Amino acid sequence: MRDAPSRLQTGTPKVTTTPLPVDEVSNTGLLASPSGGGQPSLRQVWAEKRRIMEAQNLEFGLDGPRSLWPSRIFSFGLAMFRSGVRLVGLHERGRRNALDVKLVTHSIAFPDLLPSFDGYRILHVSDTHLDCLPDLATVANRLLAGVEVDLFVLTGDIHGHHRAPLDASTGPLADLIGAIRVQDRRLAVLGNHDPAGMAEALDELGFDVLINQSTVIARQDERIVVTGLDDVHRFFTPDALHALSQAPGGFRIALVHSAEVADHAATAGYALYLCGHTHGGQICLPGGRPIITRLRRCRYAAAGAWTKGNMVGYTSRGLGVGDVRLRFNCRGEVSLITLCRSVPDV
Ligand SMILES: [Fe+2]
Repeated sequence: MRDAPSRLQTGTPKVTTTPLPVDEVSNTGLLASPSGGGQPSLRQVWAEKRRIMEAQNLEFGLDGPRSLWPSRIFSFGLAMFRSGVRLVGLHERGRRNALDVKLVTHSIAFPDLLPSFDGYRILHVSDTHLDCLPDLATVANRLLAGVEVDLFVLTGDIHGHHRAPLDASTGPLADLIGAIRVQDRRLAVLGNHDPAGMAEALDELGFDVLINQSTVIARQDERIVVTGLDDVHRFFTPDALHALSQAPGGFRIALVHSAEVADHAATAGYALYLCGHTHGGQICLPGGRPIITRLRRCRYAAAGAWTKGNMVGYTSRGLGVGDVRLRFNCRGEVSLITLCRSVPDV
């Protein structure tokens, strides 16, 4: 993985607590828009295709369909690992680690950022999986209570276990988002653990769910574009790359569950790419070096900040955990990212 770019400053940024004015906020063609003439909406067409993909024993990546068997064997290996951790007496420590999440702050400099967006604060949350470890909801509520941001982005894997009801994930998430003050919008994309029905559940929580589409956020007479994709790790379709390449010009941010199309976004001229999926490795070697990332492409983007061409990316280590409810050498996180025209002096 490449080092964090010099345009990025971590630690405690000089974030203003005064909300910036919002003069205009507009959407462009969200899939939830109703269709006319009795025709199915774009959302309905997408959901039908997505459910067909979900029903197959295949993963659909950029390189075509793959059998799910390697993933199942991997899950079996994880179960064995979990048993081994119990045997050596480290299970409770790993669980405590999983509940020890942190709020990290970053300021990222973009010389071509529009003046109205200088100091724009984005709360980036990923891989909440609150059905897997419900106690995390209390911890996250405490961490984020009263936090005030301009934009809240959720980069997928809201759900965890496919047999759990969706409200096991969205119920505690509703409490969490209620604790956060958001000036502009809540935007979300789906992950490989999220079924099609999660889009509707997130609508009801006040998110604009971006499924291979772009939306515009405006301030005064300036605007930025945010493009969000359906998961590209298991549910890739060419619509994802089309959405990246056809987005309106200007300062653009990509929201994708995994980093696996980072190279395409960089080529298309995106300034910032926010993602999750890897959990930062979750079980890491000392020093935080991931052992497994579940990335088939763009493996340089396993955790934290990275660059691809002129684009800056950030891969969240995730709030939650998957089937193995443990962390070692890798703290869970939520990120507060401040966009700047230049990195402030320390
Ligand atoms: Fe995840």
